[in-house]
Amino acid sequence: MTLSVLVTRATFADIAQRLHDHFDVDDNPDDALWDPDELKRRLQGKQGVMSHGSDRIDAALLDACPTLKAVCNVGVGYNNVDVEACTARGVLVTNTPDVLTETTADFGFALMMATARRIGESERFVRQGDWTKTGIFDMFAGSDVHGATLGILGMGRIGRAIARRGSLGFGMRVIYHNRSRLTAEAEAESGARYVDKSTLLREADHLVLVLPYSASSHHAIGAEELKRMKPTATLTNIARGGIVDDAALASALRAGTIAAAGLDVFEGEPRVHPALLGLSNVVLTPHIGSASIQTRRAMASLTVDNLIAALGAGPQAGQPPTPVNPEVLAARLR
Ligand code: DGY
Repeated sequence: MTLSVLVTRATFADIAQRLHDHFDVDDNPDDALWDPDELKRRLQGKQGVMSHGSDRIDAALLDACPTLKAVCNVGVGYNNVDVEACTARGVLVTNTPDVLTETTADFGFALMMATARRIGESERFVRQGDWTKTGIFDMFAGSDVHGATLGILGMGRIGRAIARRGSLGFGMRVIYHNRSRLTAEAEAESGARYVDKSTLLREADHLVLVLPYSASSHHAIGAEELKRMKPTATLTNIARGGIVDDAALASALRAGTIAAAGLDVFEGEPRVHPALLGLSNVVLTPHIGSASIQTRRAMASLTVDNLIAALGAGPQAGQPPTPVNPEVLAARLR
């Protein structure tokens, strides 16, 4: 019997072809955003899915799709997938770590710099034809990045790659807070020093968020945390919407509690809190942290490798490269 898989969003044709070589493929060439009912309908009779952060895979969906054996998510984050519910039903989950680390760190650093140096505001100023007078000495004067204190909340692979850019490339003093402290060797390699969350908030000139979203990181940055930051500080979120309380952030930016923010992710995206849209001291981008052609291809390719292997085909049959719940694989061997 030929197995069937669903590809929920449009992807690179040459990479998707590898799925066609093994499976019946139901795909989404027009890149329509499917609602939960459409996703459930399309998943009927499928053994695997190449899913994205916009696809909610929860217990109710799994129960409605009992043939499903593998959820291969494109992205390092997988908070759209109820992993516990998948594990309980013997459904393997995979993600795409490593291949996007450096690209996402580049973007996080770029967004932090754009925020600190007011690049969004000044670009709009020139484009709108408002630049009519030269020599205004303090025009769009921002705050320095080199030599400043970089604070990182969440010190996984991407956090460490941002830390290296700050310490080695820009002579920054780098401090971080994380659930668990890095080894001394990893701290030395990142040039970063562990501090508690209060110190991080108090001392960072530029705070970058790179922690995974979970119930415990929901609104990790809200009104109280923002009040503890420097009024000159910037906040950059490349992690997930929901980690920052966007309404509280908009109020803080309006009140001058902090100087500026750079946001690539939003609560309820693609909707952006209307109060943020009206502010000039926030740089807004549409969740593109890992979006270089090379990296998006690498993510798609790794997902396809995972899906083929998870369904027992290809050279890595039964051994997908990056499982999130490898205990499902172990149970399959028993
Ligand atoms: C990730 O890899 O988690 C990115 O945010 C893309 O969804």
